[in-house]
Amino acid sequence: MASPPLTDALAEGRARTLALVEPLSDADVETQHTELMSPLVWDLAHIAAYEELWLVHRHGGEPLSRPELAAMYDAFETPRAVRGDLPLLDREQALAYLEDVRGRVPDGQSFIHELVLRHEHQHGETMLQAIELARLSPAPAVPRAPRPAAPGGHTGLETVLVPGGPCTIGAADDGFAYDNERPRHREPVPAFRIGRTPITNATFLTFVEGGGYERRPWWSDEAWAWKEQYDITHPEGWARGPAGDWRRWTLDRWAPIDPDEPVVHVSWFEADALARAHGARLPTEAEWEKAATWDQESGSGRPYPWGDEAPEPRHANLDHGLLGPAPAGAYPAGAAPCGALGMLGDVWEWTASDFGGYDGFVAHPYREYSEVFFGRGYKALRGGSWATRARVATPTFRNWDLPERRQIFAGIRLAWDA
Ligand SMILES: [Fe+2]
Repeated sequence: MASPPLTDALAEGRARTLALVEPLSDADVETQHTELMSPLVWDLAHIAAYEELWLVHRHGGEPLSRPELAAMYDAFETPRAVRGDLPLLDREQALAYLEDVRGRVPDGQSFIHELVLRHEHQHGETMLQAIELARLSPAPAVPRAPRPAAPGGHTGLETVLVPGGPCTIGAADDGFAYDNERPRHREPVPAFRIGRTPITNATFLTFVEGGGYERRPWWSDEAWAWKEQYDITHPEGWARGPAGDWRRWTLDRWAPIDPDEPVVHVSWFEADALARAHGARLPTEAEWEKAATWDQESGSGRPYPWGDEAPEPRHANLDHGLLGPAPAGAYPAGAAPCGALGMLGDVWEWTASDFGGYDGFVAHPYREYSEVFFGRGYKALRGGSWATRARVATPTFRNWDLPERRQIFAGIRLAWDA
């Protein structure tokens, strides 16, 4: 079956991008609030510059309309930390640039169209990180899905068994995938146990209040040094209220910590320490992907944990659905063959693995997408979050960041040797 041109999908993606910034003041959109994140207005013009470079110029053969902007909006030539010091387009100019480029995009459904669409989707998640980290409000004008009831009984410490034996890892040759998801290959993965759900706030709070941040044996040397240097005593966004009660910044407001939601905004260092506290470890990427996709009975991998269907709201909390995490275990229809819940959506899950290329990796369409990050201490994350668009969130999709970073909507799923 032929796919339709991506015109509608591109328009929908653009409407969402604009909705993220629409309620914010010009100052909030144009200011760099932290060195970790770009000014939102940089993301806007960068989305336009990327679309112009790849779709209008390289794919369509047309000249760049604003060649003088290319370096400023190139993610590699202009690192995040300095973006706030540049003579960036202001909000109005950035929005006009987006509109102008979109008007010159050739119709089609090529790999480059899909690449550009997903790039905009991925920047939406980055922008939501910036909005939450800088505590900007009001929240984006995005329709919220109904919040599912907490099923109860999930702490993140309940486990399911993933049987041993070879499985298939990575994206198939057909369809869109990023270079770092290929080639698809067989990998032996011995039996192991994995958390049925991500670790909840209740479980993490026990770690915090039980002195987990002070127990030296639970922290690697590097993690301990980081924690001491920055005086880290709880996840990013947590604070104690006047009565000693814990609360959390949730996109646009303080709220009591929900014990049933997965913990979010923890670093890899904190995830590793929490695992040690429970005699557990983080899953490797291969273990994670096997738990999410491998159907032992049929001896094959599923495109999604629940089967072949594209994600719908009943499967997972993706696509900005709740503008925050749902209670752990709230989507039984999205269960993986092994019984694990919430493998996609809610929170990214840190893995034990360093980010690198699979055997036979070939950079495509440019080295800077992923190859330049290989072997540089980045840890891989899997599964997407509530802020990941459904189109982007597949079980083979690989995200990565440094082990001290906490701006990602990242949580923890534990693993144990069987
Ligand atoms: Fe980008």
